[in-house]
Amino acid sequence: MKALVLSGGSGTRLRPITHTSAKQLVPVGNKPILFYGLEAIADAGITEVGIVVGDTAAEVQHAVGDGSKFGLRVTYIRQEAPLGLAHGVLIARDFLEDDDFLLFLGDNFIVGGVAGIVAGFRSDPCDARLLLTKVPDPTRFGVAELGPDGRIVRLEEKPRRPKSDLALVGAYLFGPAIHRAVRAISPSARGELEITDAIQWLLDEGLDVRSTTITGYWKDTGDVDDMLEANRTVLEDLEHGVHGEVDADTEILGRVRIAPGAIVKGSRIVGPAIIGPDARIVGSYVGPFTSIAEGVHVEDSEIEYSIVLADSSIRGVRRIEASLIGRTVEVTPAPRTRAAHRFVLGDYSKVRIS
Ligand code: DAU
Repeated sequence: MKALVLSGGSGTRLRPITHTSAKQLVPVGNKPILFYGLEAIADAGITEVGIVVGDTAAEVQHAVGDGSKFGLRVTYIRQEAPLGLAHGVLIARDFLEDDDFLLFLGDNFIVGGVAGIVAGFRSDPCDARLLLTKVPDPTRFGVAELGPDGRIVRLEEKPRRPKSDLALVGAYLFGPAIHRAVRAISPSARGELEITDAIQWLLDEGLDVRSTTITGYWKDTGDVDDMLEANRTVLEDLEHGVHGEVDADTEILGRVRIAPGAIVKGSRIVGPAIIGPDARIVGSYVGPFTSIAEGVHVEDSEIEYSIVLADSSIRGVRRIEASLIGRTVEVTPAPRTRAAHRFVLGDYSKVRIS
């Protein structure tokens, strides 16, 4: 059994955070979303992994390397343009051979991993096994319509009028019949070879397509609220561990992870919260569900339910909440005497002033 991870895409960045980064590398709980997928694959006992990469190939390769840090052997497969998920399968034909495989979308996060469904597929294989989950807005997903016996009868990609609230999750198990399917279909209205159409082809050919409904799923949508929720989910399971330097004037409550090289002085940290390597927290409050990445400096400030990416600094700012702060950002208070706000904001920034 192999895995094929799709980590290419249009290069349409997750604005405003990923002007300089692949969306699969945006961290939650101080770890790129893609790494959770790779760890889940390793946990499921799969070692041979193909990663489809596009515009952001260099960054993905830099972050993942040869896969050995995950216990995986990674082969990179270059996709010249984001021509669809089924196109990713098409170009991975030589890598996949006729083996069964897990197709995993690099921007998906599945709480609890995929070990259970992979084990189920190994012991009882079929042509395709799909994961489904109930979502509030099915129009953003592939949607499955089930018959009275609970079997899938029809799939539709991002339907305007969804026939159910069961979305396709970005992890699929396939046998070799999918290779005929991806060759047989044509591009959709949005110009992509849709995996949904390939699976519909399997259904139309009378092949054995089954599904499992799961709970605990998150899909990166580029929406800040979604990212904060994913961060919250990850931090719910955080293991306590203080490895950095914490002085006697600091109070630590609940599950808090402080990486080696981090320095915390005269502060109050209320978990679950994570503080990355070489971060400095001085005279500050860091509240629940906050991820502070490496090299971040927080001084004389209060922050909670937020994500701060690497090398940013926050000084003298009272009460930051529900915020996503990018890399190498500086946040400081405006001098009291000024009646006006003064900004230097990058393209596509979104600013809320209260
Ligand atoms: O997340 C689940 C959804 O993923 C399913 O419900 C849909 O049926 C499925 O089509 C897909 O929908 P999206 O339109 O959200 O897929 P997205 O374009 O975000 O691509 C998913 C991942 O695959 C992402 O990490 C980028 C990568 N990708 C995408 C395309 C189109 C590639 O590597 N190559 C591609 O050509």
